[in-house]
Amino acid sequence: MDHFDLKNGVLHCEDVPLTDIAEAVGTPVYVYSAATIRRHVRVFREALAGLGDPLIAYAVKANPNAAVLATLAEEGLGADIVSIGEYHRARAAGIAAGNIVFSGVGKTADEMAQALTGGLCQFNLESVEEAEMLSAVAAEIRLEAPVAFRVNPDVASGTHAKISTGAAHNKFGVPIGQAGEAYARARALPNLRIQGVAVHIGSQLTDLSPLAAAFEKVGTLIAELRGSGLAISHADLGGGLGVPYDPSLPLPPSPELYGEMVTRLTRGWDVRLIFEPGRLIVGNAGVLLSRVIRVKPGASEPFVIVDAAMNDLMRPALYDAWHAIDAVRPHGRAMRANVVGPVCESGDTFATNREMDAVEAGDLVVFRTAGAYAATMASTYNSRPLTPEVMVSGDQWALVRPRQDIQALIEADRLPPWLGVR
Ligand code: LLP
Repeated sequence: MDHFDLKNGVLHCEDVPLTDIAEAVGTPVYVYSAATIRRHVRVFREALAGLGDPLIAYAVKANPNAAVLATLAEEGLGADIVSIGEYHRARAAGIAAGNIVFSGVGKTADEMAQALTGGLCQFNLESVEEAEMLSAVAAEIRLEAPVAFRVNPDVASGTHAKISTGAAHNKFGVPIGQAGEAYARARALPNLRIQGVAVHIGSQLTDLSPLAAAFEKVGTLIAELRGSGLAISHADLGGGLGVPYDPSLPLPPSPELYGEMVTRLTRGWDVRLIFEPGRLIVGNAGVLLSRVIRVKPGASEPFVIVDAAMNDLMRPALYDAWHAIDAVRPHGRAMRANVVGPVCESGDTFATNREMDAVEAGDLVVFRTAGAYAATMASTYNSRPLTPEVMVSGDQWALVRPRQDIQALIEADRLPPWLGVR
């Protein structure tokens, strides 16, 4: 559920007409609903109510805007981070250091040292080689690093290949069959405190069974590790629960069903559970608001050319992702069209042969479910400045990231001395 609804024929975000935002800020612009974000946190937390006091570590990569992180900090969430940049963003937004989990397959020694000095809940290590590096870094600065190994359970997650992470051929984690040996080797390293096991098998999962299969394997591993004398106090079950994009498809499993499954499978684990939801918290809390530049006849369907492009919202080009496209002031008629941006490649296509609200030049449209992996993945390709971001709360709204200035974009480059100094 979200808070983007038609009121008096105009699409609103909470109590603010999107037409007001388009007029004041221009388009394209991302618009986030604070009430939707808070609601998703509460729904997820309620779904986990039977699990003691789990740490919900929001996957910052999904949407790292400071206003989003500060909203989540107010809700008491922690952070799952994958770079020292995300660490500093989370801290700056008020997320407690002790609630930060550091994931990722390529942490550098410098990133490790900074996170260790600043404090964190745990490093999710992805190899023995990484454990060796962290041990050396921690010894150097005389600190003890709390660690878990992320295991690769070799399950087929059923999601798009580019966002699947738990199959044996993926780069992530220690193969679960070799986990016992990895823990034994890490145990012999100084300045590491082994406290947990972590798993994350992919994103936009629409079936609970691969998750259940992975969690069962983790449960078995925890028992084995304890049998070998290790004190396992934390289990990180990752993120990955899908959200609805296309209303014509069956709904993904609800947080309630996910919570029931986790409660059943983790009974008796006696650990503090950690969750890393990203998309579930912010996905449906954002839209990309865009204006139709013109409608051009096509060989069959017309091309609706909007002022947003693949550089602003990469998901369709990258994963063939489907985003609902709706008129902000529907005329009550439908059309079949290809929706494209102005970027000079055919991959800059948001929808092909899509049945949608009829629109004409000058009309506003939204791309829905654009709160996660959208603004954060934008680029300045075709010298298009980064899209601004707005957050709405009730009848208030604020610009939480101004539109990038074209001059700033140009001045970001430097000329080499042989071409003159700028
Ligand atoms: N934990 C780890 C270690 C992750 O790698 C991810 C996402 C998450 C948690 C959060 O997963 P979520 O709950 O959001 O599914 N750009 C892609 C998605 C990439 C996901 C990467 N990792 C997309 O637009 O679909």
